[in-house]
Amino acid sequence: MKTIIVYSTKYDFTKERVHEIAAALESDVKLVNINEEKPPSLEAFDAVILGGSVFMGQINKTLKAFCVENEATLNSKKLGLFLSCGLPENIDTHFNNAFPQSLLSSASVKVNLGGELRLNQMSFGDKMITKMMIKATEKEGGKLPTSNPSAIVELINIFA
Ligand SMILES: Cc1cc2nc3c(=O)[nH]c(=O)nc-3n(C[C@H](O)[C@H](O)[C@H](O)COP(=O)(O)O)c2cc1C
Repeated sequence: MKTIIVYSTKYDFTKERVHEIAAALESDVKLVNINEEKPPSLEAFDAVILGGSVFMGQINKTLKAFCVENEATLNSKKLGLFLSCGLPENIDTHFNNAFPQSLLSSASVKVNLGGELRLNQMSFGDKMITKMMIKATEKEGGKLPTSNPSAIVELINIFA
């Protein structure tokens, strides 16, 4: 099975997770970071795994547009959708906001890879927001973002 993974990332958490997925699939997998390159035509692929990280409730605009432009083709493939969502409380809302309804219905799997707050890599603005987020979460006794390895296992089981 020929698989393509199209993803977006800002601080490389998602990049690292999709490389893990590609390595575990042990088949012909093409990885495309949509922030850096335009994905090729999807015709040559049997399976497509798509997703990216969530910032202030939104996924990357280019990834969102790619899903809309290729909606019909994506619906004809074996499809997996994921988000890297550090704060999973509103995960259903984030999925509904990120992907067209038809893709959400036709996807074989939808998973949250979790997230990490990499303060040392962040822009000044993101660092300020994140520090406030951490304070508020700690005050409420909530959980800080972590990776979700079971989501990776779920994806791998379906696309292996
Ligand atoms: C400024 C900022 C805003 C964020 N907003 C959200 C959010 O709305 N929802 C969420 O679940 N996670 C949010 N996160 C957490 C990111 O999704 C998490 O850090 C993720 O691992 C980033 O992945 P990346 O390194 O692949 O871009 C936010 C992080 C930052 C720094």
